Amino acid sequence: MNHEIRGRILALLREQTGTVSGEKMSRALGVSRVSIWKHIARMREAGYPIEAGPRGYRLDVGEPGLELDILSAWEFTPSEFKSLEIPGPGYKVHYFEEIDTTMEEARLLAEKGCPDGTLVIAGRQRRGRGRGQRTWISEEGGLYFTLVLRPDLPLMQAHRALFGASVALAETLRKHYGLEARIKWPNDVLVGGKKIAGMLADIQSRSDMIRYLNLGIGINVNNDPGDLFPESCSVSGLTGRRVPRKGLLLSFLRELDDWRRRPEDGSLIRAWKSLSATIGCPVRIVSPGGQVTGTAVDVDETGALIVEGLDGGRKRVFYGDCHDRIGPGP
Ligand code: BTN
Repeated sequence: MNHEIRGRILALLREQTGTVSGEKMSRALGVSRVSIWKHIARMREAGYPIEAGPRGYRLDVGEPGLELDILSAWEFTPSEFKSLEIPGPGYKVHYFEEIDTTMEEARLLAEKGCPDGTLVIAGRQRRGRGRGQRTWISEEGGLYFTLVLRPDLPLMQAHRALFGASVALAETLRKHYGLEARIKWPNDVLVGGKKIAGMLADIQSRSDMIRYLNLGIGINVNNDPGDLFPESCSVSGLTGRRVPRKGLLLSFLRELDDWRRRPEDGSLIRAWKSLSATIGCPVRIVSPGGQVTGTAVDVDETGALIVEGLDGGRKRVFYGDCHDRIGPGP
């Protein structure tokens, strides 16, 4: 209940450019002015710059370039989300300031039967998971979430969800942040050859149909991963401004929804290829089964990468880490 009221207070403060009176809020929310005052005091403690004056309350959304970027459960209440009119399955968010990994929480929710569009978001992760056996360092400022999808797809088509997500994310970064984002097979998103986001999927199937596909995405937004990982970059580092993570998430969900609604007419694979940083490049793919080197020439209808060796022979690679191969290779 407190979450819901604070979410509605935030929505009211954002709707209004100026000050909102305590009287108006109390009428809109059906609670006393004292109660509003208490909720606002709690929200200020949590870091929301809400100014209180004789005429009411005002949220300081920040100067351009220094926009407010706070993630909290109140940002994701049902009414707050509804007021933003994001198309899609009716996202229901579970927000955690800190968690081990959003993947595990999402797995538990999915096993309990949560609907398509359930989102688990974390401000920080203690044990963020990367692909393979790697960890994903998840410090404050990044955007970390797992989206539970229940697509009506056979297991063989699972890559469509991942391709849809990587295309949606690359397009979000291009359209809304002016970044030349590209996709490295299978689903890393890069800008200027450096990794800005990564994704992985936990998939459960029954009789070859997907039961759920939990899509975990980590985006470097206002964190600075470059200190630890020189091959990484972040949205704020590249744009020179602090970027509200919630806005980025909403733009991504809109783009993703767009792709999920499109018929299967080849446009997704075409978009993926046009954004690909891998096709046409010399690559070395390392997987538990061994190593494949050659030139990446295509992806097929299952999402496998087609690698052409020096002898002209072609191999389909289903899984692995893709490394750029500089020089003539073996
Ligand atoms: C990769 O190795 O590139 C994939 C990284 C995926 C990281 C995200 S962050 C949110 C979700 N929770 C996790 O523990 N991992 C994924």
